[in-house]
Amino acid sequence: MNRRTALITGASTGIGADFARRLGADGLDLVLVARSHDKLEALAADIRRDARVSVTVLPRDLAAPDAPRDLVAECERLGIEVDFLLNNAGFGTHGSVADADPERLAEEIRLNCGVLTELSQRLLPGMIARRRGSIVNVASNAAFQPLPLMAVYGATKSYVLSFTEALWHETRGTGVRVLALCPGPTDTAFFDIAGEDFARSKRTTQQLIDTAKRALARNQPSVVDGVSNALVARLAVPLLPKRVALWAAAKTVGPR
Ligand SMILES: NC(=O)c1ccc[n+]([C@@H]2O[C@H](COP(=O)([O-])OP(=O)(O)OC[C@H]3O[C@@H](n4cnc5c(N)ncnc54)[C@H](OP(=O)(O)O)[C@@H]3O)[C@@H](O)[C@H]2O)c1
Repeated sequence: MNRRTALITGASTGIGADFARRLGADGLDLVLVARSHDKLEALAADIRRDARVSVTVLPRDLAAPDAPRDLVAECERLGIEVDFLLNNAGFGTHGSVADADPERLAEEIRLNCGVLTELSQRLLPGMIARRRGSIVNVASNAAFQPLPLMAVYGATKSYVLSFTEALWHETRGTGVRVLALCPGPTDTAFFDIAGEDFARSKRTTQQLIDTAKRALARNQPSVVDGVSNALVARLAVPLLPKRVALWAAAKTVGPR
């Protein structure tokens, strides 16, 4: 049987963990990556119990030097060919740039942009050679506008959207699908880690995964999860004068 394998970064919690459960239920073998070894092992045990798939746990700090290169080398050493890459590991930082810890912002840029780019780049040639594969890069509805008080986060997600849509075009006709997945506020630990829970309503990870699966089936370059999120990101924001868009974004992200 021709088995397929998904590599998921940030698989220990939230969107990544629920994606792992869904892809496992769909019959894909899994490679789970994050720092929390115990959470990854517990998730792997759940998935192995519920689905007849192979689950490999590779605990890593992906922001560490050479981590993406070492991860891909480890997959090759284990004889794992990755058919589905979910570049999901990422985090945000709430607060003004002037008050932020420079090392935390550097790590945010490295993880949200650098690691995602390097993993896409290193795994793409194999997918093209096999003429099959999918890369889903997790951006955000924050990708569509500058975000005062989460300035670096918004900029990293604009990068992810731009990079991924360009990659979608570069890979046309190769058999590889590429998608920038743009969640709006989604019910995970994201806001605790960012340092502020400003979202008034949140979508579920299951709604987000349904959106991603539909967009992949249609071979869309990008998708925003949720109709109202999509209307704001794609229609309202581009029409607003920049000062108004910045004011509205700062109001949304500001403390409750
Ligand atoms: N939730 C939302 O509202 C929302 C909205 C838009 C976009 N997103 C994006 O969705 C993605 C997933 O976030 P989430 O909402 O599921 O939040 P989450 O529950 O905090 O998940 C983040 C994941 O990234 C992993 N991670 C963080 N730093 C890492 C590192 N240095 N090396 C390896 N793994 C690392 C975490 O695992 P460990 O701590 O175990 O390493 C965790 O598995 C992120 O890219 C986020 O920007 C989320």
